[in-house]
Amino acid sequence: MWEDLEIAVNKIDPEKCKAKPPQDALGFGNYFTDHMFLMKWDRENGWHDAEISPYRNFNLDPAAMVFHYGQAIFEGLKAYKGENDQIYMFRPEDNLERMNTSALRMCMPRLPVDKVLKALKALVYLDRDWIPTGNGATLYIRPTMVAVEPALGVRPSSQYYFFIIMSPVGAYYAEGFNPTKIWVTDKYVRAVKGGVGHVKTAGNYAASIMAAEEAHKAGYTQVLWLDACERKYVEEVGTSNIFFKINDELITPPLNGSILGGITRDSVIQLAQSWGIKVVEKQITIDEVIAACNDNSLQEVFGTGTAAVISPVGEFCYQDKKYVIADGKTGELSQRLFDELQAIQNGTQDDPFKWIVRIG
Ligand code: COI
Repeated sequence: MWEDLEIAVNKIDPEKCKAKPPQDALGFGNYFTDHMFLMKWDRENGWHDAEISPYRNFNLDPAAMVFHYGQAIFEGLKAYKGENDQIYMFRPEDNLERMNTSALRMCMPRLPVDKVLKALKALVYLDRDWIPTGNGATLYIRPTMVAVEPALGVRPSSQYYFFIIMSPVGAYYAEGFNPTKIWVTDKYVRAVKGGVGHVKTAGNYAASIMAAEEAHKAGYTQVLWLDACERKYVEEVGTSNIFFKINDELITPPLNGSILGGITRDSVIQLAQSWGIKVVEKQITIDEVIAACNDNSLQEVFGTGTAAVISPVGEFCYQDKKYVIADGKTGELSQRLFDELQAIQNGTQDDPFKWIVRIG
């Protein structure tokens, strides 16, 4: 079935194109481009009705299973416009493969990666005028799969939509690349081993909102999650993986089932190793982080994610005590990783890892 999947292209009437938002006030995920991609799945036909069309609403039954039991998975990746208006995407295949890992865990159908990649490239090319340039602005791409069968039994849906929408974005955090402040919670947990913490499913984010709200009220940007059993091992930050530079070693928690395997996380590990930096994937307790902060061996802390790229952490708060990291300033390694990743993504730097896909 997949082999025969045709992708129809139905372009917007040029008169109906939306006005582009001002590039200096994009925020994150507030505007959407003129086109989208949609394809449908059911047991009989597999993936079918693949179409690039003008951005539009769906007409879904109120009983669509995603509304009730949350069978929803998504990805986040970006397209960039480099010199000479060349368009690039960063590791798109890895995102689609990760989506298939999510699909497996959530009993949803596998995506035909090569077909989706083809559709994605065509979609990005069609809406290329929406890719912002300058000052870290990019085109954020959101592939999503949801269960649409109208039924209330708790079981896998027999019908799904897979769609891709795109949004021109600025920095994810109001702080931009400036250091953020994170709130370590031992009251709430994000994920347990055996659960769905390692997959990108909507419910993980829904479950995180209350802790994030409390963190915001206390003046913090994001939540740092601890493990659900002992509440002492560091896991990840709200929308990012986390790294600690201690005594010149880069430490990040291992992918042991409750942490999302970030593509930026993997890129940072590869980059740092290629620079001769020792990277250790190991469990680290919040007490170890505090001890390192107190004896000044904690040199840098930063989060990594598609939306956030590299986000330096200048301060954290745990059990009502505040800890300032490296005088609250952006560390040298965070800056170097940010600059290098951006240069690779914009095509201004060699791409020794073959992460970049050129479009057009
Ligand atoms: C991403 O970094 O792409 C994410 O998915 C984070 C998002 C929830 C804002």
